[in-house]
Amino acid sequence: CNYMIEKSRKDILDTLTEGLSRLEYRGYDSTGVAVDGDSDGSTLIIKKPGKVAQLKEEINNTLNFEENNPEFINHVGIAHTRWATHGEPSVKNSHPQRSDVNNEFVVVHNGIITNYRELKTLLLNKGSKFESDTDTECIAKLFKLFYDTNLANGIELDFNALTKEVLSELDGSYGLLCRSSHYPGEIIATRKGSPLLIGVKSEKNLKVDFVDVEFPDDNENDSDLSKLQKMSKHAQDDEEKIYFAPLVNGNSAANLRYSQSRAFLSEDGIPIPIEFFISSDASSVIKHTKKVLFLEDNDVAHIYDGELHIHRFKPKQDGDKVTRPIQTLELELAQIMKGDYNHFMQKEIFEQPDSTLNTMRGRLDFIKKTVKLGGLTNWLPTIRRARRLIMIACGTSYHSCLATRQVFEELTEIPVSIELASDFLDRKAPIFRDDVCIFVSQSGETADSMLALKFCLERGALTVGIVNTVGSSISRSTHCGVHINAGPEIGVASTKAYTSQYIALVMLALSLSDDRLSSLERRQDIIANLQHIPKQIEQLLKLEPQIKQICKKLQDEKSLLLLGRGYQYASALEGALKIKEISYMHSEGVLAGELKHGVLALVDEFLPIIALGTRDSLFPKVVSSIEQVIARKGKPIVICNENDEYWMAKKAQENSIELIEVPLTSDCLQGLLNIIPLQLISYWLAVNKGYDVDFPRNLAKSVTVE
Ligand code: G6P
Repeated sequence: CNYMIEKSRKDILDTLTEGLSRLEYRGYDSTGVAVDGDSDGSTLIIKKPGKVAQLKEEINNTLNFEENNPEFINHVGIAHTRWATHGEPSVKNSHPQRSDVNNEFVVVHNGIITNYRELKTLLLNKGSKFESDTDTECIAKLFKLFYDTNLANGIELDFNALTKEVLSELDGSYGLLCRSSHYPGEIIATRKGSPLLIGVKSEKNLKVDFVDVEFPDDNENDSDLSKLQKMSKHAQDDEEKIYFAPLVNGNSAANLRYSQSRAFLSEDGIPIPIEFFISSDASSVIKHTKKVLFLEDNDVAHIYDGELHIHRFKPKQDGDKVTRPIQTLELELAQIMKGDYNHFMQKEIFEQPDSTLNTMRGRLDFIKKTVKLGGLTNWLPTIRRARRLIMIACGTSYHSCLATRQVFEELTEIPVSIELASDFLDRKAPIFRDDVCIFVSQSGETADSMLALKFCLERGALTVGIVNTVGSSISRSTHCGVHINAGPEIGVASTKAYTSQYIALVMLALSLSDDRLSSLERRQDIIANLQHIPKQIEQLLKLEPQIKQICKKLQDEKSLLLLGRGYQYASALEGALKIKEISYMHSEGVLAGELKHGVLALVDEFLPIIALGTRDSLFPKVVSSIEQVIARKGKPIVICNENDEYWMAKKAQENSIELIEVPLTSDCLQGLLNIIPLQLISYWLAVNKGYDVDFPRNLAKSVTVE
């Protein structure tokens, strides 16, 4: 939304669609925009099923910019790219959703309204006419219902007060934007359980450090911080408390006014041209500004006249923060561009020599063979006293927990359990104050993981976040944690986040045990091996030509088994997940020890099998499982260590066996290397089949709904 900055409709739509294309990886089955219409206060909506490129086409087909491209000095536009939860992808189900045919209230929404059936019944009884199958439409219609009802009673609510009435009816989760023809030039942004951030851009180089928050009962109980800021009350304005704030604009306090909820105002009475960019992800804002603030659950941000006001929907509770700091993002635009690669996934696979190094940088001392995790220093003694360590995650992040559980158990001697967040919540698993719960998440926004985190916090457990996205909900809500520093991951199929999570978890296990002399040698060996991982990954990426050949052979198969045990069970599951996600081939990770208990029935000369046969203490057992496959005429592709005598001899006997040779490392790190050829296999299978690697059907990068 822009204030006092002249922009044409085309500029505005370009900004919105460009921002949407950066968000596309989070959902991409339909899109839409709502901008100012031709007459004052009216709203123009354009929607399209499919991806942002199709929306752009639709915009160009619908609007003739050469003949009509009005300029706006103040403007609010909203846009959305959808991952369907309620209702199939179609024009009617795309967002923005509207209150009525006149587009009085239009809404874009990320999340799920769980009581939408009840709300729909209520609204139908009140005469609303529904156009879509979405839960979101209820929100737009509630806005209108409350607006009309209040007006009929002679009450003209401001947009913020109206929003609070609407929110009090909603159950579920939302990241929500609303614009209305009744409040031209204004926008509401509010969240509960779904992320939202606000980027702020002004040529004036505003030195605002934070935005103060207004709680419903604030007028009586000012926060301590607000009291400090209070230098003198603005005499003329008795409606709203306005204070001079020394924290704004450094020394020239008298020039800027500052109210409890107000961040940006005129300078010497002259309005400041300013733009706000509201998004669920920093990647769509970064092109415009690096200054952002993150909204918290139950915040209602209200922007009008170039000012940002943050109100709270709920009264103040202990622990509620009273300000929202304005942070400077470290993200660079280049990090979210594909560069010379064909797909983000390919770029991210090939970034792993760097991303794994970045995870270790400044944390591992390869000379002294020590580890220091800054975000945990003060918490280590408490974590060491834990009765249990419980690792909770979803998808690929869960696999990184599985891959490292054994090294945690070995080094810390604390019982470790691993949990899929949704199952953990379904069971309402018992959690106690002396448990330490470790949440692993690339995005830091996954709804299942976030809800599990809330569950653990309510029960008094200490929580640790292992997260990639700085400023994300999980990184902000956990007591302490480690950022994995892999850089933005855009490809829906997670690759570099997996290897970085893996390393971060190994470093956590090393830190937790660094008071144990008995395991000193083992720890030093692991650290020495970690040092070589980036180079070894670089070497492995050179296997691409061989992998391409293998993929040509596998391409038309219907099904694929991946076999591993011990440390390599996680590699089998993660490899199978990658293949399913993007090549749509049925693939299953099988614990080699379980083969004889059922899966062996599937094996014949036709079923392709990839076996993880690298060296560790379980090698003889893995070999025996693979032999069982060969005995049933199976022709496995074996991931083995370079020049491994056993596999070399085997290959000499049975030429039909294919070997993928990987460097040898410590047993607990071998999965970091073994996963690389599996990532490449999934990638090339999908590319060969002509699938859209970065946008696999039905999936989203960050699943912010339960
Ligand atoms: C989605 C993504 C997966 C990811 C999982 C967990 O399903 O498609 O790639 O592993 O969510 O996401 P998180 O951000 O919590 O690691």
